[in-house]
Order: sequence, then C-alpha cells, then structure tokens
Amino acid sequence: MVAREEVVFVDGVRTPFGRAGEKGMYWNTRSDDLIVKAMIGLLERNPRVPKERIDDVAIAATTQQGDQGLTLGRTAAILAGLPKSVPGFAIDRMCAGAMTSVTTIGSGIAFGAYDLGLAGGVEHMGRHPMGANADPNPRFLAERLVGADALNMGMTAERIHDRFPHLTKERADRFGMRSQQKVAAAYAAGKIQPDLVPVALGGSAGWSLATEDQGMRPETSMEALATLKTPFRPHGRVTAGNSSPLTDGATVSLLASASAAKELGLAPKMRLVSFAFAGVEPEIMGLGPVPSTEKALRKAGLTVEDIGLFELNEAFSVQVLSFLDHFGIDDDDPRVNEWGGAIAIGHPLAASGVRLMIQLAAQFAEHPEVRYGLTAMCVGLGQGGSVVWENPNWNRKARR
Ligand SMILES: CC(C)(COP(=O)(O)OP(=O)(O)OC[C@H]1O[C@@H](n2cnc3c(N)ncnc32)[C@H](O)[C@@H]1OP(=O)(O)O)[C@@H](O)C(=O)NCCC(=O)NCCS
Repeated sequence: MVAREEVVFVDGVRTPFGRAGEKGMYWNTRSDDLIVKAMIGLLERNPRVPKERIDDVAIAATTQQGDQGLTLGRTAAILAGLPKSVPGFAIDRMCAGAMTSVTTIGSGIAFGAYDLGLAGGVEHMGRHPMGANADPNPRFLAERLVGADALNMGMTAERIHDRFPHLTKERADRFGMRSQQKVAAAYAAGKIQPDLVPVALGGSAGWSLATEDQGMRPETSMEALATLKTPFRPHGRVTAGNSSPLTDGATVSLLASASAAKELGLAPKMRLVSFAFAGVEPEIMGLGPVPSTEKALRKAGLTVEDIGLFELNEAFSVQVLSFLDHFGIDDDDPRVNEWGGAIAIGHPLAASGVRLMIQLAAQFAEHPEVRYGLTAMCVGLGQGGSVVWENPNWNRKARR
C-alpha cells in the first residue's frame, strides 16, 4: 500500500461498559448520549486539537434505529459541541463497526483528504437487542445461501467446537476464567481506568457515576464454569462464562496524519501499518480473523512472528482459541490480551474495535521492546477484521 500520508492513532477513550438489560447501569441512558460523552471526554483531554480542524466523524452502530439512528457521526458531532462545519456519518459492519470507522477515517487521511478525524462506535444492546427488527431475506435460508446457525452467534461458536474437537470446553472455560483474572489484575494495577470517561447515571433512585465496567466476574472458578447452562445447544460447550456478555458502551478515537499531529504538537500512540477484512463461511464466523490477519500481515510485509502484542476480541473463547491454534500460539501466551478481554469487559458490538486499540496503545507505552501489534475481531455473517499497528515508543535495544 502506498499511502500519501502516514496515519496515526493519537488517542482513544471509552465509557465504562455496562451490562445490557433492565439491571444494566445504562438502562435509562440514551445510546447517543453514551457516544457524545465519550467524544467530549476525548476532546477535553486533547485541548490542542482545534475542533474546527476535525475533517470528519465516523461513528458505528449495528442497529441504526431510534437513538442509534439518524447518521450518528453527524448527530453526535452536533451534540458534542463540534462546530456545525464538521461533517459526520454512520458506519455498520456489525462487531467491527468501530474498527471500520478507524480504517475508513484512516484511509481518508492516507489519501490526503483529511488531517484529523474522529472514529468510534456505540452499541446499546439493552435498548437494541441483537437482530431486533432485522428482516433477513428469505432467500438466505430458502436457497441455502447460509445455514440457520449463521444467524445465531452462539451457534457459530458451537460449530467451531464441532470443527476442532481439541478446542475443548475445558480449554474454553479456562480461557474465560483467565480473561476475568487478567481484567481484575489490570484494574487493580490501574491500567484500564485512565482511558475511561465516567458517565453520570440518573434515575428515580438518585444520581451516581459509572466509573468501571459492570460485567466483571473476578471470582470466576473452573468449578462454577463447569455448572453453567449451554444456552445455544443442549449439551453444548458455549456458556455465559466463555462468551462475551450482552453489553452497552461507546468508544471513540482521534486519528491524524503524522504531519498534522506534528504541527499541532500531538504525540501519537500508534501508527497504522495495514488493515484487512476477509470473509469466511457465515456458520463459522468466529474464524474470520484468521484470513483477515493473514491478509493484513501480507500487506504489511510482516509475519505473525513480528507481532509482539495481540488485542483479540473475545466474542467467544473458542473463537479466539481457533485463531491462536491456527497461528501456533499458546492459549495463555502473555502477548495475547495482556489485560484480559471482552469476556470480562463486555462486547458492545460496534464499539469494541476501538476498545481493542485503546488497550493496545496503552500497552505499547509499556512495551518499548515491541514494534508491532495487532487488533483483530470476528464479525457476524462470516467476516474478520484485522489492523496492524506500529509502536512509536519502539526501541530496538529494549528487552521484554
Ligand atoms: C451467553 C448468553 C446467552 C448468556 O446470557 P445470560 O443468560 O443473560 O447471561 P447471564 O449473565 O445471566 O449468565 C447466565 C448465568 O451464568 C452465570 N455466570 C455467567 N458468567 C459466570 C462466571 N464467569 N462465573 C460463574 N457464573 C457465571 C450467571 O450468574 C447466570 O447465573 P443464573 O442463571 O444463576 O443467574 C449471552 O451473554 C450471549 O448471548 N452472549 C453472546 C453475545 C454475542 O453473540 N455477541 C456477539 C458476538 S459475535
């Protein structure tokens, strides 16, 4: 790829993620208010960015209806107080929405059309349950274009267990438990909190402030995981303990050309190296990140051995395990999801891609020995998305 301009990830923030549903902390909070809150938080901590210099705003949501409709990038920009001269648009690639916001704004920067852009996503899975009001064309099933399993994400995870029997339920549970433990350790060490924008919660019970992710279960044990129901199939292997939970939350990032960042005195946290999306059979959508990563690495002229840190979205344990297995990486390799992942933090579909980037950027600052990192995720209906990043703090003499 020949980019006219280098693309850098200057900064990213997110709201704490809440459990979806009536017991979730955002049940009484509008979806657009979540993304607006994140945008204001991002701009406040980057006061050197002249708001009128932001060339475009891309905000993703999977269900673009109600408070997630109306071209979110534009509505959120107005609500966040950006000048009316700043345009915006909405993006949808289901789980890879925010990732696609980043690659779309990043492509505009690389082409020379933009100097600065905001890219993020939001999903309120409580207010907008997965697939609600969707009307898949009957041809999908009638003409066997896809199997019925393809439309149920949990079933696609069961299908990966079927395909790879060595990726056992025990391995999936252990991966889920480790995710919980790693997130708890990262919180205890204060790694996650700096990139969270607190959200005020109102309601009949009074006011409070959301300051951390709500779905964490640090006490998770293998014994308890073994007893959980398998909601997607009788005697299946996919449970609430080895799946990402239904989640509400928003994420946003500031991208810039390297020259605009320099001009404005902004210190980039990551440099965009390459990205790719790829398709697989929709019934095994969790395998999507394998071909998208191979493609992104090929475009970058790198191999998987060059990647020092992996931020993989944990839609389901088995889906991440299939990726690791393909590339010959151990289940508990320390380079992978160092601070845990979506099983513990949550996965508000179209928001998650930037959550991976926020964590990778923070880890880059701590790992000058690492030159390249990968963010990757699977996508409903059989896709994967992968972005390769370079660490501006890289120092070839530093050691792990
Ligand atoms: C798996 C799923 C169906 C579970 O939904 P749920 O039943 O509402 O989940 P809950 O949080 O209520 O958990 C179910 C039970 O497991 C228990 N549980 C969940 N995680 C646990 C853990 N780590 N340790 C111990 N118990 C746990 C809960 O306490 C609950 O127990 P209860 O029934 O006695 O109250 C749902 O999270 C889901 O659909 N996840 C996938 C989302 C998805 O497809 N995203 C897109 C990916 S591409």
